[in-house]
Amino acid sequence: MKKRVTKAIFPVAGLGTRFLPATKSIPKEIMTLVDRPLIQYAIDEAREAGIKEFIFVTAKGKGALEDYFDAAPELEKNLRKKNKIDLLQELKATDMDSGAIAYIRQREALGLGHAVWCARRLIGNEPFAVILPDDVIASEKSCLLQMVEQYAETQGNIVATMEVANDQVSSYGVIDPAEDMGRIISVRDMAEKPDPAVAPSNLAVIGRYILEPPVLKRLNTLKRGSGDEIQLTDAIAEEAREGAAVYGYRFDGQRYDCGSKIGYLKATIAFGLARDDLKDDLTGFLEQTMAHRRAAE
Ligand code: UTP
Repeated sequence: MKKRVTKAIFPVAGLGTRFLPATKSIPKEIMTLVDRPLIQYAIDEAREAGIKEFIFVTAKGKGALEDYFDAAPELEKNLRKKNKIDLLQELKATDMDSGAIAYIRQREALGLGHAVWCARRLIGNEPFAVILPDDVIASEKSCLLQMVEQYAETQGNIVATMEVANDQVSSYGVIDPAEDMGRIISVRDMAEKPDPAVAPSNLAVIGRYILEPPVLKRLNTLKRGSGDEIQLTDAIAEEAREGAAVYGYRFDGQRYDCGSKIGYLKATIAFGLARDDLKDDLTGFLEQTMAHRRAAE
């Protein structure tokens, strides 16, 4: 019988050093695109894909994330009194049913693979999704839903992939393709942050995965890899080398790397321009700024 994906892991225990000093006291995932924190985009994407259980791998200093999903009765009472119905509606999006959300602590930032492994007991023997909230994907159909639909057809392990410029591959896990079938690519092996000169392709893995339980078992035995961290890519690559089905999935959508400053700024502008209430003002401002810059050159 075909299995369904109902659980998702959100690894949010990283140190976020690229955003210091902000991340000294604010979790990266609470940073906002316009008026919603990155984590809200990730949760909405997972909900659209049919996820029912949300597992956060957190760490010290991430309390604001847990608070974000708590009920806010005082605030709601105040908004209701002032008849601010639209804001009450906005708040509803942050509601999580009791028991739908679980927090697991990663005691030390030993890498993404280790963070996923920390959730193993909550996953048990089921397929699961992994969503990295700092990869924000704007798309008509949620990226994870696209992958869940693919999983319903092929099963196996599925990683979201996109072509990147050759000099960028050393920032990503990269696919060694066995067969390129267009929408999906069967994976023979993967390399974590390879040197462009020896990279197996320019197909980068980005932060959406559907994985099967054997990957968790691999993580049990994995040694530290690139950056002295336990890498999720290494566990998936081992699975592929030993014959498990692993696919790269070319998703429809625009991905923003909100873990980097430039990606975050681009996303802020793109999401601002996508909002009816902001786009005219923002367009005017951008045009004016560019005109001033050109005049000054
Ligand atoms: P990153 O590689 O972006 O690391 O992690 P980071 O610590 O968040 O940020 P920088 O590089 O220091 O600026 C990718 C994802 O894996 C999670 C992060 O929270 C992020 O969602 N992660 C990483 C963990 O949960 N635990 C870790 O030990 C490492």
